[in-house]
Amino acid sequence: MELSQAMVTLISVRRFRDQAVNTSTLEELMMAATSAPSPANSQPWEFVLVKSPEKKGSLAKINLECASTYIRNRKVKMDEQRIRYLQKSLRRMAEAPAMLVLCVNWKRAGFMNKTGGLAKINKRLEQVATYGAVFPAMQNLLLSARSMGLGCWISMYHYYNMTEFRSVLNLPAYVEPVATICIGYPTGRFKPVRRESFRKRLHVDGW
Ligand SMILES: Cc1cc2nc3c(=O)[nH]c(=O)nc-3n(C[C@H](O)[C@H](O)[C@H](O)COP(=O)(O)O)c2cc1C
Repeated sequence: MELSQAMVTLISVRRFRDQAVNTSTLEELMMAATSAPSPANSQPWEFVLVKSPEKKGSLAKINLECASTYIRNRKVKMDEQRIRYLQKSLRRMAEAPAMLVLCVNWKRAGFMNKTGGLAKINKRLEQVATYGAVFPAMQNLLLSARSMGLGCWISMYHYYNMTEFRSVLNLPAYVEPVATICIGYPTGRFKPVRRESFRKRLHVDGW
């Protein structure tokens, strides 16, 4: 599949067929993810492959509960149909054929000291650049999955209950779970993404 075609049909998939995703496929996805660039090649990503049905259930439950908090707290209210769709999908999250938790390893983030690029660490730069490595890794994974006919669902609701989420996976303090990524073969079709034209966001020679 052409890369451009994968990009323009990379929709979020929240419903999956009951078909396993084999280990070698998951390994291929993680290889794609870890090919991403990162500041000073610090590679600050980690993955937790959640195989245990109990743990998948616990993480799904946390995501569902946290999603309710998110929905309640949104400034722009979600329409009822969207809420029902999300909740229905979240109730079935544990049934996703594969679940990966993408994390940041903050011990790998002190890249500016190592390279001597800057005498003093600019904390904001360090943080932005570190997340800025983990998200391209996620995008590589998503695109690679799309090229294999697999769909993915990113969920970040757990930020509303980080403590419980971390404890399910026994994560050390320096590892921050960033997203639960559910992966599987979609029940529906891949449709074109709906985005505004870049022309609306283009500024030439300044704002
Ligand atoms: C960084 C990031 C975080 C996201 N977090 C969530 C999430 O917590 N829950 C969810 O259902 N979708 C999440 N999504 C998916 C977006 O809601 C989705 O990409 C967007 O609505 C556009 O829809 P589409 O991907 O189907 O084109 C996330 C996407 C990104 C890139």
